[in-house]
Amino acid sequence: MSPYAHITGWGTAIPERVLTNAELAKMVDTSDEWIVSRTGIRERRIASEEQTSASLAAEAALAALQVAGLKPADVDLIIVSTSSPEHTFPATACLVQDRIGANNAGAFDLSAACSGFIFGLHLASQSIRTGDIRNAIVIGTETLSRLVDWKDRNTCILFGDGAGAFVLQAAEEPAGILTGVMRSDGSGADLLSLPAGGSRHPISQKVLDAGLHYIQMNGREVFRFAARVMNQATEEVIQKAGLKLDDIQWIIPHQANLRIIEAAARGLKYPMERCVINLDRYGNTSTASIPLATVEAIQDGRLKAGDQVVFVGFGAGLTWGAVLVKWSGPFATRRQKIHPAYVRFLARLRSVLLRVLRRLDTAIWGRVSHIDE
Ligand code: COA
Repeated sequence: MSPYAHITGWGTAIPERVLTNAELAKMVDTSDEWIVSRTGIRERRIASEEQTSASLAAEAALAALQVAGLKPADVDLIIVSTSSPEHTFPATACLVQDRIGANNAGAFDLSAACSGFIFGLHLASQSIRTGDIRNAIVIGTETLSRLVDWKDRNTCILFGDGAGAFVLQAAEEPAGILTGVMRSDGSGADLLSLPAGGSRHPISQKVLDAGLHYIQMNGREVFRFAARVMNQATEEVIQKAGLKLDDIQWIIPHQANLRIIEAAARGLKYPMERCVINLDRYGNTSTASIPLATVEAIQDGRLKAGDQVVFVGFGAGLTWGAVLVKWSGPFATRRQKIHPAYVRFLARLRSVLLRVLRRLDTAIWGRVSHIDE
């Protein structure tokens, strides 16, 4: 029988700095009343200068490994879904792999905007279900504060920074990630984008003057699309799992806008009290929003082993999707204690040694022509 992918660990990294609506109202022509009534957002977190998408991701990943009781060396796969990668390449996931010393893991980034965490969970679960790997980490991490135009009131009020991670582990018991759906519609690519920095619009003075290095959004169109696909994806994933809406204890939606979530819940006839919401305190943290909300629901005792949960989201691309999870929690057996500070130190040491060895190797063997000989 093919194993199931259980979610056995979780962690977050939340920047300390809080940016309130009142502070934003001093920066652009807006008000706390407007932002709360149109979005439900009251405040968001902003990464410090030292914090990056990789550093937040590594912190969340180590916290998740600690809960799961796994060592970094046990991890076979790291998927980082992010809308604010550190670079076009290398992948932020590789920087995370190095920072946590996961020396047996393949690591790559997944670009599906705010649906990325859902796509990542689905793909990692498929890898576990085939029997190819046993343990994976899926991370959503963002420093979107560096990609928004702080003079554009249409976008700067919405986004925030943070990271969340899940550890997925193989087990025979039928629970964990039961099924998922992933959808895309590139005809809506222009509705939400960050045009510059890739090969289409390489950075130039002209591009900077046009502000193409900032997030661009048609808010109304994105709203209409989101309200439609949230229900569609939720219904589809429940049907695919052979379940009914009544079987679902929690819906954990992408935290973009309270009105979108309310519209979806109304459409589904699903009680709002069963939707996990924390966007009032974090804003839209893109790929990190679902794990941030989930960890909160675990910590305050709402989400319990045995609960059936739908994670559902949408984002630029356009993309949307959902996964259905029977919540399990950490395995009772084979758990190991890890100390994040110690793991980080060892990973750093390993990384430095590898760099020194690479330099020595080059110094001794020199040119590439030696390899051909
Ligand atoms: N403060 C005050 N007024 C604002 C404002 C702000 N921050 N942003 C826009 N406005 C103004 C507009 O200029 C417009 O003025 P006008 O009527 O004089 O033209 C008015 O408010 C209404 O704008 P509108 O765009 O119709 O508002 P809305 O109700 O659609 O809310 C969003 C705007 C962006 C909050 C909403 O469309 C939304 O959340 N869309 C989805 C965005 C999203 O989730 N993106 C991420 C997806 S992963």
